[in-house]
Amino acid sequence: MRIIFIGPPGAGKGTQCKRLAAYLNIVHLSTGDLLRATKSASALGRLVASYIDSGRLAPDYLVMRIVIRQLEQTAARSGCLFDGFPRTLNQAQLLDEYLAANQQKLDLVIDLHVRQDELVARLLKRAQVEHRPDDTRETIASRLRIFHSQTAPLLDYYQDRGMVRRIDGMQSPDEVFSQIQACVDAQKQQ
Ligand code: AP5
Ligand code: MG
Repeated sequence: MRIIFIGPPGAGKGTQCKRLAAYLNIVHLSTGDLLRATKSASALGRLVASYIDSGRLAPDYLVMRIVIRQLEQTAARSGCLFDGFPRTLNQAQLLDEYLAANQQKLDLVIDLHVRQDELVARLLKRAQVEHRPDDTRETIASRLRIFHSQTAPLLDYYQDRGMVRRIDGMQSPDEVFSQIQACVDAQKQQ
């Protein structure tokens, strides 16, 4: 299966993808994690850090290069969870082109909903433990703005294909996972 997770910062994309990847035994492809791993003292690493540490989207060409490299690996050919990708209409179209050229298809889009005050609370709490440079009040606000202006419109793009399943992400991680599992199991039966 190929499943896209769309949700604002702090919605639980990473938390849920980790569990679902184990359940389905497929690859978890997080562009945020991959970009963070690219941060280094090199020129490219500094460029990537300048985007992600300030909460701005990395350029599409860079993200696509990283994603396609992952998709070319054997393990991802049988299925993949896209965590935080695509994030722009251009990325969504490029992904469609790649999948079509490789006789692959998307199965589901999980639309993870969490109230804004809860998102901010989760990220500020995580900041105390993980110290992600983009988990500051100011950068969180900017990440949320970018999500609403650039990424949320993708839901319409996928809605037209009947692929979107809205999930209430305000519940406990176990309860959220049960909702996702039910959608995935129903999709598998089709
Ligand atoms: P990315 O790493 O994807 O960050 P994000 O989208 O801002 O989301 P987070 O990882 O902060 O949250 P999450 O939804 O994964 O929630 P999590 O499970 O961690 O991207 C970072 C940056 O990289 C971007 O800003 C951009 O610069 C760049 N980037 C990435 N992809 C890109 C792309 N495609 N194009 C261009 N640029 C890109 O949970 C959050 C916290 O809440 C955790 O502490 C968790 O334990 C807790 N939690 C989770 N679920 C629950 C629950 N149900 N109840 C209570 N707490 C919970
Ligand atoms: Mg994440």
